[in-house]
Amino acid sequence: MKICISADHGGFELKKTIIQHVESLGYQIEDLSGDKYDANDDYPDTSKLVADAINKKLFDKGIILCGSGVGASVVANKFKDVRAAICHDTYSAGQGVEHDDMNVICLGGRIIGEELAKEITTEFLKANFIHEERFIRRKEKLDQIEKENLS
Ligand code: RB5
Repeated sequence: MKICISADHGGFELKKTIIQHVESLGYQIEDLSGDKYDANDDYPDTSKLVADAINKKLFDKGIILCGSGVGASVVANKFKDVRAAICHDTYSAGQGVEHDDMNVICLGGRIIGEELAKEITTEFLKANFIHEERFIRRKEKLDQIEKENLS
């Protein structure tokens, strides 16, 4: 499974921890926003790097960090075929993938601590979409909403 990550200045420190953690789990991860800290960068610019790469199917799952996770998720959900959410608890991180086929997780570098962020990331990465009729039906409805509203 290929994973990508990006962060603005608000998520920069936590991103380093998450990259190390993901690698320690044996996954391949690519940092799309780079290792230079820029206190003046803007979350739309850094968040769209992951969202665009997921939209283009260059990676299987993406992780986006900003200060709160809010800006990251707003940006990511403007991209077709990207299903992103802020998850600051482990249950949502796994269930979001299993039920909703979430392919991007958004984390707030100023909100959660390192250990919780690592556990959340683990749940997100190990979860798989459950191909049950009810989940497929809901995903098809999402696709329809996308078709009607995101051109
Ligand atoms: C940047 O200071 C901060 O506003 C941004 O990282 C994020 O929290 C936006 O949602």
